[in-house]
Amino acid sequence: MGDSVVINKEGFPHHVGIIMDGNGRWAKKRGLPRLSGHKQGASVFGKIARHAVDTSVKYLTAYAFSTENWKRPASEVAGIMDLLRGFLKDTEKYKDDNIRVRVIGDVSALDLDLRRMITDLEEKSRERDGLVLSIAINYGARSEILRAAKAYANDPLKPLSLDEAKFGEYLYTKGIPDVDLIIRTSGEIRVSNFLLWQAAYAEYIFLDVLWPDFTPRHFDSALLEYAKRNRRLGNI
Ligand code: FPP
Repeated sequence: MGDSVVINKEGFPHHVGIIMDGNGRWAKKRGLPRLSGHKQGASVFGKIARHAVDTSVKYLTAYAFSTENWKRPASEVAGIMDLLRGFLKDTEKYKDDNIRVRVIGDVSALDLDLRRMITDLEEKSRERDGLVLSIAINYGARSEILRAAKAYANDPLKPLSLDEAKFGEYLYTKGIPDVDLIIRTSGEIRVSNFLLWQAAYAEYIFLDVLWPDFTPRHFDSALLEYAKRNRRLGNI
């Protein structure tokens, strides 16, 4: 499928969230260590981000590491953190594609060098407007909402009448519109504490494909499926 099918078409999603699931199973199927699944997953992630620039999508948010993922073996956690380092350190990487990078989640738990890399890339990419790529690291939606409630309560400049839009400004996703479509790979049909507030009106697509096998073609098909569902709703 060519890119033209999904560029700037009415009814296509602007903000897509991805739960990149199935790296471990992909590796196991091949008799490889789990980390090689994550490595392949990180490479697919980069490919999909660059591909998304040529579609209707202006915001892409990917779940890279949840607040629950710390329970995994220390070597796996360290390996995923190294893959993130590898992605973040190349600050010029997505310049040509005009991709702005943000991280959502509680970064205070991350190593100092990683935090510095995040701040650095967020700063360097601030002016890019081809795509806003948000990477969820140490992210959990309930803790995001709780944190927002506390931040509001402690805000000396808080608006006196709180509404949904104003509350949204206390979330990690401040400035980013609600998510239209969430794609989860690997056949698991769960929401897993991802963007609970922002996905109030989202469509979900669950695919029987392991994340390392996910391709731009799968991505385009999901955008089309979203547009079809959207059109049906419009007809009622
Ligand atoms: C879920 O698969 C995947 C993760 C918990 C990690 C996702 C991380 C990446 C794709 C790499 C991150 C790097 C960048 C640059 C964003 P799983 O391991 O739970 O799969 P399984 O259910 O088959 O075991």
